[in-house]
Amino acid sequence: MLKKLILGIDVGASGIKGALVNMNTGKMETDRFRVPTPSPATPKNMAKAFSQIVEHFDYSGPIGCGFPAIVKKNIAKSASNIDKSWIGVNISEVFGKAADCPVFVTNDADAAGVAEMAFGLGKNKKGVVILITIGTGIGSAMFIDGKLIPNTEFGHFYLKNQSKVAEAYTADSVRKKKDLSWDEFGKRFNEYLETLERITSPNLILLGGGSSKKFDLFKKKIKIDTEVVPAQLKNEAGIIGAATYGYQKAKKLVAS
Ligand code: BGC
Repeated sequence: MLKKLILGIDVGASGIKGALVNMNTGKMETDRFRVPTPSPATPKNMAKAFSQIVEHFDYSGPIGCGFPAIVKKNIAKSASNIDKSWIGVNISEVFGKAADCPVFVTNDADAAGVAEMAFGLGKNKKGVVILITIGTGIGSAMFIDGKLIPNTEFGHFYLKNQSKVAEAYTADSVRKKKDLSWDEFGKRFNEYLETLERITSPNLILLGGGSSKKFDLFKKKIKIDTEVVPAQLKNEAGIIGAATYGYQKAKKLVAS
């Protein structure tokens, strides 16, 4: 019988975070353990950091992993905020070998979205729901009647007359680097949401990741018609979603 306590690992561009998640409740049963993402963020270096998390929890069993790239059949197809040598690499194999456990991997924002739809504000929401994560990059997860359309990459369309990739204009890392005020950031993020709304016409937009926790500081600048609200699971969504994905894959409930 598959254990109900699954290790979820959220691999990010700045930190790799893990916790044991109870699959009956969707809640973390341990504190999260974080290891800084090594630089350069190559497969070899990141595998070492990944195994430190597994060792910390003294865990063996299926691991669910969110990874900050396009992931198709366990292979990284992009590498915006990690080392380019990841492209074409089988992530499950690299991490699975390091951890000596089966590792099931999906895009990090898709994982966060899965958690929010299962246990957070997306629960029972019909129609088109989009979760945007605002962190080092911008990630996205899109759902239609609760079903995920994977690898949407809405952080990568162009803004400002096609001159700027969205995540290079309005990610949380850009706000910090350029020392933008919350008003300036809100204005930029509203421009981003205007385009997102125009191309997807969603029923609801949920915000996760870094600056979503500070939504109150920039929400007055958000003027689109679609309802925009911070996600409920906040920075736990990535870990909970990764564990949920790992659990479902181990039970063969979802396709790659
Ligand atoms: C990547 C996405 C990822 C997002 C958040 C983007 O740069 O292209 O795959 O979901 O960052 O980590």
